[in-house]
Amino acid sequence: MLTVPEFRHRKRDGKKVIVVTAYDALFTRIAEQAGIDVLLVGDSLGVVVQGKRDTLAVTMDDMLYHTKLVAGAAQRSLVIADMPFLSYQVSVEEAVRNAGRLLQAGAAAVKLEGGAVVLDRVEAMTKFGIPVMGHLGMTPQSVHRYGGYKVQGKEQGQAQALLADAKALETAGAFSIVLEAIPAPLAKTVTDALTIPTIGIGAGPHCDGQVLVLYDLLGLFDDFTPKFVKPYAHLKADALQALRRYKEEVEQGKFPTDSESYH
Ligand code: KIV
Repeated sequence: MLTVPEFRHRKRDGKKVIVVTAYDALFTRIAEQAGIDVLLVGDSLGVVVQGKRDTLAVTMDDMLYHTKLVAGAAQRSLVIADMPFLSYQVSVEEAVRNAGRLLQAGAAAVKLEGGAVVLDRVEAMTKFGIPVMGHLGMTPQSVHRYGGYKVQGKEQGQAQALLADAKALETAGAFSIVLEAIPAPLAKTVTDALTIPTIGIGAGPHCDGQVLVLYDLLGLFDDFTPKFVKPYAHLKADALQALRRYKEEVEQGKFPTDSESYH
């Protein structure tokens, strides 16, 4: 099992951290067989599993369910669970309780979005032994503030604020920070300024690790594909072909044959 301290030491050792999202036991086992280090039970499940337009409707119950599936199947990877919208914004107390529930469901750490506004949450969780990953840049739970999924940190003021947030998260106790959809040079500046690993998604090659949404990486989800996604497979096309052939063969009486029948 990769531990949180081992994850942190990857930066010192110069070994990239490989992260993908996971939502169920089947893909957890496949990702582990491929040697993936970290499984993030992302609230992106609201979009890729539940079919919503954004992540805002994902609930604690949804996250607990999917965290149990992933953590139940994981044998060697570090499982991190996303804190969904409204599970940590209302008060420090609620944030700590909900983070603790995700650990009870099997996660080893939680991730939450935001900088200065969540520092007291990060401090409290860390104090009580809950490892916290930060998330800066284009934070999807703020999609309505941005007016869409847009690259952040392009202006100097924004970039300076993001760097200050990253340093403050580290001081508050975060063991790592996801940097999403920010210019690569800014991600490098942040990565160089921190002693904790940065994990990039749409943040260029200089981060200490990378994360992608599993269904994007596998070419399963193509409702919209951000510039930073590289599909390493085309499983949607394969699935479509398989399903069409199955339909055709049943219609034509070619399936099942004798070899798929009991005698
Ligand atoms: O919810 C998610 O999957 C995420 C990653 C894309 C970083 O937050």
